[in-house]
Amino acid sequence: MARLLVLGGSWFLGRTVVEDALADGWEVTTFRRGQGGTDVPGVTLIRGDRTKSEDLNRLAAAGPWDAVVDTSSFVPRETLAIATALAPVVGRYVLISTVSVYEGWPVEPLTENSAVLECPSDAGPDFGYDGDPGPSTYGFGKAGCERAVAEVFGPDRTVLLRPGVILGPYEYVGRLPWWLHRVARGGRVLAPGQPSRSVQPVDVRDVSAFALHTAKADGPVGTFNVTANGRETMSDFLTACQRVTESDATFTWITDEEWLAAQGVAQWTELPLWRTYRGAWAVDSAKARESGLTTRPLFDTATATWAWLRSGTGTVDHERASEQGIDPDKERTILDAWDARERSRNDAR
Ligand SMILES: NC(=O)c1ccc[n+]([C@@H]2O[C@H](COP(=O)([O-])OP(=O)(O)OC[C@H]3O[C@@H](n4cnc5c(N)ncnc54)[C@H](OP(=O)(O)O)[C@@H]3O)[C@@H](O)[C@H]2O)c1
Repeated sequence: MARLLVLGGSWFLGRTVVEDALADGWEVTTFRRGQGGTDVPGVTLIRGDRTKSEDLNRLAAAGPWDAVVDTSSFVPRETLAIATALAPVVGRYVLISTVSVYEGWPVEPLTENSAVLECPSDAGPDFGYDGDPGPSTYGFGKAGCERAVAEVFGPDRTVLLRPGVILGPYEYVGRLPWWLHRVARGGRVLAPGQPSRSVQPVDVRDVSAFALHTAKADGPVGTFNVTANGRETMSDFLTACQRVTESDATFTWITDEEWLAAQGVAQWTELPLWRTYRGAWAVDSAKARESGLTTRPLFDTATATWAWLRSGTGTVDHERASEQGIDPDKERTILDAWDARERSRNDAR
């Protein structure tokens, strides 16, 4: 039986990888401190802190593993230390990175050949800076983590996965949960931007399946963007939310995005997934698709997430869980202002 080590494994993506790996027949070990999230029954637990060298030595002594899937790397020097400790006992290293490593994110269309932020492999947590709309210390850190893994494991044993926005069951950031709850509440819903705008959120189960595909000894290696194919739109997304919640909500599309932004609506968080920059949903994932990535329709993601939210286990005690969503009074005020604007424009015609 192939052996898999998951660094993390208690939240959203890590937990999905663990569940899927067990279902696929992997023998799974997880390494984490035991502070947050849920352990999946059936795994071998190793408790430890990735910032402590004695814990890394103890972890390495429990090997070997055919592969590690690392969902919890954010600080390059910590990743360098853990990769160095694991290199003698792990076949290949699958690092969950992000599209935020690109210099051009979210402004420009991106492929794997686009320029990546410069960050040394031994950088600390504060390397880089936060710009608006980018780059971010998060992106710099992930770029340094990628470099650390590549330096230690080399090109034949390194997989760098760069997902865009991930949605699905166990999502603690709360993007899709917020939209599902908002649409379920019904009434007039502020729908941001053009309904035809293409979007690329990727289902957590598709990221997990591709990560496990690359973890196999004969799986592909290298760097891959992991996003949906962009054939679905913001209208498809909200329609999916409406269908799965069986809501009578109506959508008022505020198509003048400059006007919407001028009302003081924060992109990305107050109206999750709404971002005006042209690169936000222009990430090319053709390379991953040629190597085995498949992505499901948004409707499936919404269905599974709504089922999870309604299952009684769909509450997430996570510090980021309440980051998303616009205040209902603010939404109403903006809709009223939009109506008034449309009326006066019609009168002027
Ligand atoms: N959400 C998105 O849309 C999105 C998009 C692109 C990429 N990503 C990437 O996807 C990944 C998401 O991972 P996730 O959903 O599994 O959640 P996560 O919140 O990154 O999980 C963190 C895990 O690491 C463990 N951990 C934290 N500090 C530790 C330490 N010092 N020592 C050992 N273990 C530690 C935590 O358990 P303990 O607290 O018990 O230690 C937990 O299991 C991240 O790498 C993120 O950057 C996410």
